[in-house]
Amino acid sequence: MTDQPQIDTAAAQAARRAAFHARCAQLGIAVDPALIWYHSIDLGDGLVTPGIFDLRPHLEAYRFPEDMRGLTALDVGPGDGFFSYELLRRGAELSAVELPSLSAVDQLPGRDVADLLRAAEHFLPAHVPELPAQLTLERLDHLLLDGPMAFCCRRLGIDLDLRRGTIYQLADEALGIAPCDWVFVGDVLLHVIDPVRGLASAAAVCKDTLVIAQPVPDDLGDEPMARWRGGDDPGLDYMEWWLPNLAWYRQMLNKLGFHSIEVVGRFDAAMLATGQSAQRTIIHARR
Ligand SMILES: C[S@@+](CC[C@H](N)C(=O)[O-])C[C@H]1O[C@@H](n2cnc3c(N)ncnc32)[C@H](O)[C@@H]1O
Repeated sequence: MTDQPQIDTAAAQAARRAAFHARCAQLGIAVDPALIWYHSIDLGDGLVTPGIFDLRPHLEAYRFPEDMRGLTALDVGPGDGFFSYELLRRGAELSAVELPSLSAVDQLPGRDVADLLRAAEHFLPAHVPELPAQLTLERLDHLLLDGPMAFCCRRLGIDLDLRRGTIYQLADEALGIAPCDWVFVGDVLLHVIDPVRGLASAAAVCKDTLVIAQPVPDDLGDEPMARWRGGDDPGLDYMEWWLPNLAWYRQMLNKLGFHSIEVVGRFDAAMLATGQSAQRTIIHARR
């Protein structure tokens, strides 16, 4: 028996969603009720997006400089853009690179859009009960990839320099990204099947500090290793693949020309609707 009061996380998140939509209605803002908010973002006027996560209390753990004026920055995989807006607020000259469509996410060879939609229909309703039962790729792209960021940029009056591509393409001429002082790769590497190529691509556009944030297992010992996160169910993929340990990052980042590699933060953040906790470790790698 425990004296801890049980919190109904689903009800609390439903209340956040309801409050967001009520405030939109008061302000006369049209908003699609099925939009999938990844981050809790304060848009002013009492409007806070009902994110799957609220990373606002953990922002300090990422150790971005408070004053980023005069620095160039790249946000890889910004989602609805919480970190992009924060880096812009700190004065950085920022570009962001997001997938052109969720069909460009890394899937196992042989899997297709139907598999992607099946995973979305399995995973997302716990967070967004308003999600339509039958998704199409176009609808999912709007709900997850395009709609939330467009909404935030409109509310915040931000004209984001958003380019479309995958992490593997960051250094491609077509994306036109000049090497940046700060490159942020937040919870993206776990979604790529080839983290070696993903990290090398991010390193290629980083002049100074590469920030990596994601779960880093601390039970794999001191040898460079990665934990398989893809599961064993042939019928369902969550598009999460590898979790390298710190020794892996140290060796890889040394190999890619970074000399100082430091863990600057670590925290657990719960998914608001389910209460399920996810660890994040923040690594700064410097040239
Ligand atoms: C879990 S969200 C992370 C959002 C934010 N960066 C953060 O740290 O909270 C993952 C983001 O990476 C993007 N993404 C997934 N696979 C990618 C890939 N291969 N290349 C670039 N971005 C990718 C997703 O579309 C999504 O916006």
